[in-house]
Amino acid sequence: MSHADLTSQLSDSTTLLVTGGSGFIGSNFIRHLLEESDFTGRIINADSLTYAGNPESLEDIARAFPDRYVFEKAAICDLPRVEELFEAHAIDAVCHFAAESHVDRSILGPGQPPFASLRSGPKAPSRPSRQKQIPSNQ
Ligand SMILES: NC(=O)c1ccc[n+]([C@@H]2O[C@H](COP(=O)([O-])OP(=O)(O)OC[C@H]3O[C@@H](n4cnc5c(N)ncnc54)[C@H](O)[C@@H]3O)[C@@H](O)[C@H]2O)c1
Repeated sequence: MSHADLTSQLSDSTTLLVTGGSGFIGSNFIRHLLEESDFTGRIINADSLTYAGNPESLEDIARAFPDRYVFEKAAICDLPRVEELFEAHAIDAVCHFAAESHVDRSILGPGQPPFASLRSGPKAPSRPSRQKQIPSNQ
């Protein structure tokens, strides 16, 4: 699903789960939605804060939008934790950016972990998404 398709499906009251929201693209996507778009719903940022995640990149957003932005330290391969987030925040839609594919590290060590890791992936959010028929960018 493209960015335009996703945002066109977001209603005023949507609670959007963004995975990897503390990374490069995810943090800019969250900033764009909250500061520059017509979106008026809530965003839950689920990020495990690997080497690539920077919690400081959205500190100003957390201060500016305390009712509309929530950070949850969570790994998307942890299914019980993901299900807990779906229940606790009543997630309506999912946008995946969580990845272990940092561009700089992929150039410096393309054969090195974590690029070959199979433990992470969007599998955990996919299952509750499908069960609840929640739109996702997958
Ligand atoms: N950066 C680019 O130029 C670019 C271009 C095209 C596509 N992409 C793709 O977009 C996606 C995001 O890219 P990026 O540059 O923002 O990556 P990034 O490495 O900057 O951010 C990834 C984020 O995912 C988090 N993360 C990693 N494993 C996790 C897990 N198991 N659970 C929860 N969070 C986890 C990290 O902490 C980090 O915050 C990737 O799939 C990437 O391949 C990136």
